[in-house]
Amino acid sequence: MATALVVLAAGKGTRMKSDRPKVLHEVAGAPLLAHAMRAGASIDPVRTIVVAGHGAAAVEAAARAWDPEVEVVLQAEQLGTGHAVDQCRSALADFDGDVVVLYGDTPFIRPETLAAMQAARATHDIVVLGFDAADPGRYGRLKMSGQSLEAIVEFKDASEQDRAITLCNSGVIETDAKGLFSLLEAVGNDNASGEYYLTDVVGLARARGLTATVVTCDESETLGVDSRAALVDANAIYQARARTELIAAGVTMLAPDTVHLGFDTVIGPDTVLEPNLVFGPGVTIENGATIRAFSHLEGCHVARGAVVGPYARLRPGAELSEDTRIGNFVEIKNAQIHAGAKVNHLSYIGDAELGEKTNVGAGTVTCNYDGVFKHRTTIGRNVFVGSDTMLVAPVTLGDDSMTATGTVVTEDVPEGALALGRARQVNKPGLARRMFEKLKFAKAQRDKDTE
Ligand code: UD1
Repeated sequence: MATALVVLAAGKGTRMKSDRPKVLHEVAGAPLLAHAMRAGASIDPVRTIVVAGHGAAAVEAAARAWDPEVEVVLQAEQLGTGHAVDQCRSALADFDGDVVVLYGDTPFIRPETLAAMQAARATHDIVVLGFDAADPGRYGRLKMSGQSLEAIVEFKDASEQDRAITLCNSGVIETDAKGLFSLLEAVGNDNASGEYYLTDVVGLARARGLTATVVTCDESETLGVDSRAALVDANAIYQARARTELIAAGVTMLAPDTVHLGFDTVIGPDTVLEPNLVFGPGVTIENGATIRAFSHLEGCHVARGAVVGPYARLRPGAELSEDTRIGNFVEIKNAQIHAGAKVNHLSYIGDAELGEKTNVGAGTVTCNYDGVFKHRTTIGRNVFVGSDTMLVAPVTLGDDSMTATGTVVTEDVPEGALALGRARQVNKPGLARRMFEKLKFAKAQRDKDTE
């Protein structure tokens, strides 16, 4: 059956104490909203609708960045979760299928859990995702009768007896669109919060003779982020999960707790991660690479057998081919480093291409920026770039060429040529010794005068 995903993201999130809408706070470098949308994408929805309110323009932009096909509807006033879903009524007027409602601030619902809900829909009209809460707090309580869900009671409206129930509502619900909007017509706001509760649809459905049930998941999946402290917890949960998955998939981590992964980090088996690494967005690493300690990577690709670090920085557009070596205190940005090339020490390579087996000496800099424009440096195959070479872009070094140490390259270097561009050295015999004597004498005089 076709499914439409509805992601509620209109809330302000006052407890975040932030100008940013709550769903745009990040876990592992991606907004909470993107995590929720990624979770929802696992059910392969034919439509995805985000309900935006606070900071709607920014929320819409973030939603589109994740899924360009997303539809965004506005909930100008936040009158409750039922009211929020009801904003999709006209968008889904002709939709004949199921609706799954997720919250934009709940990033950890697993695909298996949503699949279990879909399976339960075969036998029930409404399926709600519940969890057994260690501390049920202010969650809505699920009132069961055997396997049948009879009603959801919000904490504020619950009796003492209902509050003793520990089976809680996660907020995720699945039912058919037509039935849902018909039930929502009957939802009022005569309750302790004065809100239109989505949760009321369950009791209303039961009264109409429809069936409802609960699928349960672990509490960690339903963690909603509504404070900075919860954001810290969410990051920790995400990192722990992502590391465990990578290790299970064949990645070696010497100190997993010190590896900070990005939302979309991809790492192949047999890659070794040393301690203290940060992966920003957009990093892919093939099999059998080694990322050595204290390196920072974002927006880059590292091919098989490459060795990066220690203390390396790969910035967006860094593309390392097989068996390349990027060493300590080296920064690579928007540059293709072809197979077997080495940049081992203290260098900046930006807006550049390095040919196969080229070796870049210590302290080399591609001077790519003139203060206004960026320029490219192109270096051919088997080139030997001497230490402390300044490559003033735009500039090209031909295959098999060489630059002498300390050269400032301002003109293209032809294939096979040696570029030598530094001041000529002159040796003055005995001058150093005479100067030392002079200086030592001057110092002795000064010390005597100050005695
Ligand atoms: C809701 C449930 C409660 C459940 C809890 C789980 C209702 C009435 N209650 O509580 O049973 O245990 O979630 O966390 O549904 N939102 C909007 N527009 C609104 C109101 C909310 O978009 O007008 C969004 C929020 O941005 C958030 C989500 O809906 O992403 C949940 O809202 P929140 O206020 O956190 O949940 P409660 O209503 O307290």
